[in-house]
Amino acid sequence: AIETVRTVRDLRARVAAWRAGGETVALVPTMGAIHDGHLSLVKRAKAHCGRVVTSLFVNPLQFGPREDFHAYPRDEARDTGLLAAAGSDLLYAPDATEMYPPGFSTKVHVSDLTEDLCGASRPNHFDGVATVVAKLLLQCAPDTAIFGEKDYQQLLVIKRFVRDLNIPVEILGAPIVREVDGLALSSRQRYLSPEERAIAPVLHQTVRQVATDLAQGRGADDASEAARFRLEAMGLRVDYVAVRDPDTLKPLHGPVKTARVLAAIHLGKTRLLDNVPVPPD
Ligand code: PAJ
Repeated sequence: AIETVRTVRDLRARVAAWRAGGETVALVPTMGAIHDGHLSLVKRAKAHCGRVVTSLFVNPLQFGPREDFHAYPRDEARDTGLLAAAGSDLLYAPDATEMYPPGFSTKVHVSDLTEDLCGASRPNHFDGVATVVAKLLLQCAPDTAIFGEKDYQQLLVIKRFVRDLNIPVEILGAPIVREVDGLALSSRQRYLSPEERAIAPVLHQTVRQVATDLAQGRGADDASEAARFRLEAMGLRVDYVAVRDPDTLKPLHGPVKTARVLAAIHLGKTRLLDNVPVPPD
């Protein structure tokens, strides 16, 4: 059975009891609307550590003023059942005042890594992510925390501030869980109309095509520009198609051996992300 706690105090008491019993602890941060991508992280966490804490907090700090904070899908009872079945031992679901009490005025800002790709169209988003994840890591003090490669830039931002601030935790990345047609699972997928859902797999086809082009020796700029052109020719609004260094996210231009291909498009009011490694995993 899974227990739910809502305060830092109760979270720390549960984790301390496990530690006193010699157990290791993994944390899986989420915003809920749990799907098989989240559950794959819980299963990995369980394979890695004796105990798994899942956090559920729709973090207002990481949403822009015109984004979907209020519309974000919330169903804690459903999420709790799915997380318990996947092996999570504890759900940490603080309310907004537990996380951001009156007078809260600190933020974690990672420069450089956050300036483009998703950071360009979502100003302050990564400050919100880094601030809440830093808090979750300090509140729970896990041995390990696991994040999906689905949000690849987010994963690198988290690894960076954890290193820069000497937070004693191991950060693990986990592969993207996809639908059979290639669409990366996401909580926002449910916003897609049937027509948009039918088009959505083109995003994954596109990043795979760029990866194939690179493997065949095509230059990075050439391959990504051709991909953008193909998407725009279909009438899609492209946020970016990019070939980047997999560790620093610095742009790459000519032929490359090792890279990450990342893309984001808008389908109606939904923004979809995908990325793949070069060479493939
Ligand atoms: P959320 O979008 O709920 O995602 C929680 C975790 O699940 C993230 O690490 C994300 O990368 C991972 N994830 C989502 N879809 C996935 C998929 N298809 N395959 C594998 N992993 C997937 O990301 C956030 O929440 C927030 O920014 C958070 C880190 C919780 C901070 O608020």
